[in-house]
Amino acid sequence: MSARIATLISGRGSNFLAIDDACRDGRLDAEVVLVLSNRPDAGGLQAARERRIPVAVVDHDDYAVRSDFDRAVGEVLERVAPDWVVLAGFMRVLGADLVERWAGRMLNIHPSLLPRYPGLDTHAKALAAGDQEHGATVHFVTPELDAGPIITQVRVPVLPDDTAATLSQRVLACEHALYVDALAQCLATSGAPLANPVD
Ligand code: GAR
Repeated sequence: MSARIATLISGRGSNFLAIDDACRDGRLDAEVVLVLSNRPDAGGLQAARERRIPVAVVDHDDYAVRSDFDRAVGEVLERVAPDWVVLAGFMRVLGADLVERWAGRMLNIHPSLLPRYPGLDTHAKALAAGDQEHGATVHFVTPELDAGPIITQVRVPVLPDDTAATLSQRVLACEHALYVDALAQCLATSGAPLANPVD
């Protein structure tokens, strides 16, 4: 039985699309069963609809309290019961209860060589520091932001004329294969997919 993947996005969703492509062409023995966004206007939602993947919107602006937002996201996930929860450009911090509910089954991709540059504006930070190398990381999600166990990383050179925009494009071009590779590793090492996440 192929693994069930729920992806959480906030924007264009190119990482989600790369993962879905890999599911459809057999590189991953998995299926994207949900695309959830905290933003109703996320471009990736439209792409998901065109691929006939179920979508859900939990708009963070509808929740004054973060724990209520988390609860709403959690309820959608419980209904869908994925084997893996894959954060793919999801730009909200999730609370500890939700993260711990999916411990070992929730992944994130972050555009830096963690532990360097957790948080936002990673490309500008790498340029400001004069780094020769930058990259992206796929890691398990833990309650501490961008600090969970690393699954895999990709390195890209920083070029002399780089701006944050050009550097971010070079990193993104490598993120797609990186995320597919990370998921392949997870699927290969997890044995039979669980019907429910690890408590
Ligand atoms: C990607 O670069 C991803 O690494 C980053 O957002 C972008 C989403 O692109 N994620 C974060 O910054 C998370 N902290 P996408 O919507 O095209 O997949």
